[in-house]
Amino acid sequence: MEKIVILTGAGISAESGLGTFRDKDGIWTKYPLEDVATPEGFARDPVLVHAFYNARRVQAAAAQPNAAHQALARLQRDWPGEVVIVTQNVDALHEAGGAREVIHMHGTLAGALCAACGHRWQAPEVMNTQTPCPACARPAARPDVVWFGEMPYFMDAIYDHLAGCSVFAAIGTSGQVYPAAAFVHEAIAAGARTVEMNLEPSAVVSSFDETRFGPASRIVPDWVDRLLEGRA
Ligand code: APR
Repeated sequence: MEKIVILTGAGISAESGLGTFRDKDGIWTKYPLEDVATPEGFARDPVLVHAFYNARRVQAAAAQPNAAHQALARLQRDWPGEVVIVTQNVDALHEAGGAREVIHMHGTLAGALCAACGHRWQAPEVMNTQTPCPACARPAARPDVVWFGEMPYFMDAIYDHLAGCSVFAAIGTSGQVYPAAAFVHEAIAAGARTVEMNLEPSAVVSSFDETRFGPASRIVPDWVDRLLEGRA
């Protein structure tokens, strides 16, 4: 049965109240990404970086999934083949919306990573420069999110899924960050049908067979209905 791979970005969580990065008023217009989303920024000013992620962790914990997250969970449940959700998002709204399996290629706000020994654990709500690693006891906790210049997680598994997919959908992502922006090309090489769903055309829109523009909470449930009814 046809395997579907879905890539999501910040746009799918926008209507849940979580900011996107590159839109007007996006997160990177308020906080330079070099300061808060690079290993060099963390080395320069760990207090600032912890404060940035602590605030996002609190905000994400209070957010509710929207109709787009719920529709993808429904697709995962009702589609006769495999539905793989790969997200660049560090929130847990796919899971909160009922998704069974989600690949977090950029890590999660819920995770802590020891910069000294590599141990991973459940992040406390507030982390700071004194937060000890439960494995090595050194005060080297950092958010378990993938920063610019770092390798995204689970890439082998993601490329395997893309090589075997029949349908690829990108939802709510600007197509400006690689390697995720190039997944559509892997899917095309696998012979998949490709669809972009976004508020506006992404940087890689011309690679897609089909486009649907509008708010995710409207266009994603509509697409899922069509797929499940055999109309897409
Ligand atoms: N519905 C659908 N799409 C939306 C909505 C919405 N309600 N609101 C905004 N969008 C679209 C925007 O038009 C934009 O194209 O979502 C996209 C968000 O793009 P970015 O802010 O660049 O977010 P994303 O593509 O997820 O960023 C990728 O960059 O900085 C990093 O690590 C961070 O994972 C992130 C990565």
